[in-house]
Amino acid sequence: MCGIIGYAGSHETVPVLLDGLRRLEYRGYDSAGVAVAGDDEIRILRAAGKLANLEERAYGCPLRGTLGIGHTRWATHGAPTEANAHPQTDSGGRVAVVHNGILENYATLRHELLSAGTALASDTDTELIAQLLGSREGPLLERVLGVLPRLEGQYAVVALSQDDPGTLVAFRNGPPLVIGLGADENLVASDVTALVQRTRRVIFLENGDVARISRDGVTIVAGDGQVVQRPVEELDWDPGRAEKSGYRHFMLKEICEQPDALRNTVVAYLDAERQGVNLDGLGFDPRRIAAVRKVQLVACGTSWHACLVGKFLIEQLAQLPVDVDYASEYRYRSPLVGGETLVVGVSQSGETADTLAAMELARDAGAPLGTICNVRGSSAWRLAEARLLTQAGPEVGVASTKAFTTQLVALLLVALALRRTRGLATEGDRDLVTALQRLPLAVEQALAAPDEVFRRGVELVSEHEDSLFLGRGILYPIALEGALKLKEISYLHAEGYPAGEMKHGPIALVQEGFPVVALATQTATRDKLLGNLMEVRSRGASLIAVSEPDAAEVARLVDLVLPVPPVQHLLQPVVAVVPLQLLAYHVAVELGLDVDQPRNLAKSVTVE
Ligand code: M6R
Repeated sequence: MCGIIGYAGSHETVPVLLDGLRRLEYRGYDSAGVAVAGDDEIRILRAAGKLANLEERAYGCPLRGTLGIGHTRWATHGAPTEANAHPQTDSGGRVAVVHNGILENYATLRHELLSAGTALASDTDTELIAQLLGSREGPLLERVLGVLPRLEGQYAVVALSQDDPGTLVAFRNGPPLVIGLGADENLVASDVTALVQRTRRVIFLENGDVARISRDGVTIVAGDGQVVQRPVEELDWDPGRAEKSGYRHFMLKEICEQPDALRNTVVAYLDAERQGVNLDGLGFDPRRIAAVRKVQLVACGTSWHACLVGKFLIEQLAQLPVDVDYASEYRYRSPLVGGETLVVGVSQSGETADTLAAMELARDAGAPLGTICNVRGSSAWRLAEARLLTQAGPEVGVASTKAFTTQLVALLLVALALRRTRGLATEGDRDLVTALQRLPLAVEQALAAPDEVFRRGVELVSEHEDSLFLGRGILYPIALEGALKLKEISYLHAEGYPAGEMKHGPIALVQEGFPVVALATQTATRDKLLGNLMEVRSRGASLIAVSEPDAAEVARLVDLVLPVPPVQHLLQPVVAVVPLQLLAYHVAVELGLDVDQPRNLAKSVTVE
């Protein structure tokens, strides 16, 4: 969850580290710090709060040197104070460490160090790593190899030592680390967004790898010290896509990028000639897929909502039963999984710890394992035997938007491919494929809704502490997603519910002015939904409906229509979520909140 960067090169390191941290800040923003190897001591600068606080200090107190590490923190052990910020050092100040993850044997190690008389300066588990490294002699790589057997849990660590000039050592077990190979410089970071400004040539470290990084080169060894070779990969990310490009917030930019993101995802997997989907070459053995009798989708958060839509799509189009699991539950519930179960881990980042653990479980049980993922080379990408890359490009805003809609399209593509494999495809599928090709235009229309619509939406929602989002069928997951978007960036409580269930409890919440947001596009169950809305209306609720603008029966009933164009039923989730993303965005802006970095959250949840 924390952001890590390390630099070994020929330039002043602090500007490079700060630039990298700026790009990683979405991973955590409780506190930040840098350490620079000076001529005769390691110099550290840290600050509680946002990176801007550290930057301010860095201007007032320049640290010179060409080797350094930096960190932006999402607190686990210890409050987000300056003392607990990283880098952490050993008592002698000879070793400095940045860390992402959790040491599970924290209590044991801490007790041991305190019993041995070590004075600890923080509450962090990270300091324990620095102390253990500082208590040893020799080159830093040797020290790390000596300390590794003592570390239990998940960690990605970069260390430097005053006794081993010009050297960074990076090691991981769980959270990701990627090395960037530059000209006369090498870097390491917790994700590629921090590197693409300087280099596109990267090496993804595997779990258990220990890398020695200097200006002149990189050596990677396994835990037993044997040198291992890892492929050098060329990134195809355009660094400009991780900039705000004139938008006030990344979230707004990413909402507006959805037509392109969808277009790119569809084009990548559409076989224009056959007017069908071409997922050949993704990596699956066709015989394994032919043997599949059920599907399990595992994910967290917004990606889990995409999977709920995926269940409708796959069950309807491929006639296979689908279970959707929170990855954090799946991994501990002894799921019935084996060679006949296709398991797909869905993840924007490809680094979510629970999703990875669920995928590992499925792989170990012999299931064909796929991933729908937005980051080529991520841990999910490397774990799966088949990968479908959503082409959303870098998503920086903590609230996921364009990754979500591209996941929906990716799941539809998977459903269509399974349909074909199972011999269910018909001529009529062409209509769906054509509608899919037109989908980006429909999203453009949804984005073009006038500002005053959202101004009115903000009035109806922002003054209430609670609201209810209702949907039915394939749009029920969109109610969940709309509620999550509002919660995570506006801190207003919102609950998503299947509209038909509302009478079984949540209706008790409704009173004068209580906002109810409904997904009321044209479906077979729209009349039933409208019946549910009448029930809350008669109890004083304010009603907002996502609907086609010409649906008079909806317009008559509600206070506000968030307009979307008509699209094929299976594609409605993609279009219907757009006004809910915008509504959440405008509410958060109106409330003066930090849209891109909401409190307590981090973009990439790399701990359990
Ligand atoms: O990277 P992932 O898709 O695996 O992330 C899963 C969730 O952490 C993520 O979707 C989270 O719920 C977002 N903040 C939602 O906007």
